[in-house]
Amino acid sequence: MQAFAPPLTPASAAGSGSRSAACTQSSFIPRATWRRKRFRGPTLRRCSSPDGHKSLPPETRKDLPMSATITINGAAVPLPSDPRVSLLDLLREQLHLSGTKKGCNQGACGACTVLVDGEQRILSCLALAVQYEGRAITSVEGLAADGALHPLQQAFIEHDGFQCGYCTPGQLCSALGMAAELRRGVPSYVTEDLAADAVALSHDEIRERMSGNLCRCGAYNGIVDAIAETVTQAAAAPQGKEPR
Ligand code: FES
Ligand code: FES
Repeated sequence: MQAFAPPLTPASAAGSGSRSAACTQSSFIPRATWRRKRFRGPTLRRCSSPDGHKSLPPETRKDLPMSATITINGAAVPLPSDPRVSLLDLLREQLHLSGTKKGCNQGACGACTVLVDGEQRILSCLALAVQYEGRAITSVEGLAADGALHPLQQAFIEHDGFQCGYCTPGQLCSALGMAAELRRGVPSYVTEDLAADAVALSHDEIRERMSGNLCRCGAYNGIVDAIAETVTQAAAAPQGKEPR
């Protein structure tokens, strides 16, 4: 395969083969300009937010360009101009939503789990914010509504599903994503009947499906009990769906 190389300048084309001769000031500047153009990143659209993001706190608005947007807990916010910013850093560093936790920052602990479009659980430390342009992200701050805790949050309290609480935001979002997978009939490694329409909810199913979320305090028994109670109650509700 032919290597892709920047255009040659007169100086480099006539190069003698030695490194110092090929990298004179006159050859370096055109090469640097070529690299800048090539790696400039995606072109962002202008934001169409009707209120110009006035609903956001000032510290959130001031550093961000009015460009493409992402919806965070129901509010449209501009995406960072730097396409290298992770979704986790957008939440924590730029939007000051520190509920989502940075544990390992490399996809191993689950502390940074958030929901996409209300159902899909993702690790925000492994996601670039620009990948989710136009999508709706729910972090732990978006679970409670009208001053009332989400039923799963309440169940975590009642079943002692946490100790230090560092893993809890990720556990909550992951459990809600897991419940959505159950409703869709997605099997797991321990599902016995792959042909069944509905996956039976057992503690083994919950433990397997939540195995990507680590708890250093070892509150697993309470976590599993809280999830089992909430998912079972939601399944028994008339609409057969999660309360929110
Ligand atoms: Fe994302 Fe650990 S911080 S998986
Ligand atoms: Fe402390 Fe889970 S409650 S890490």
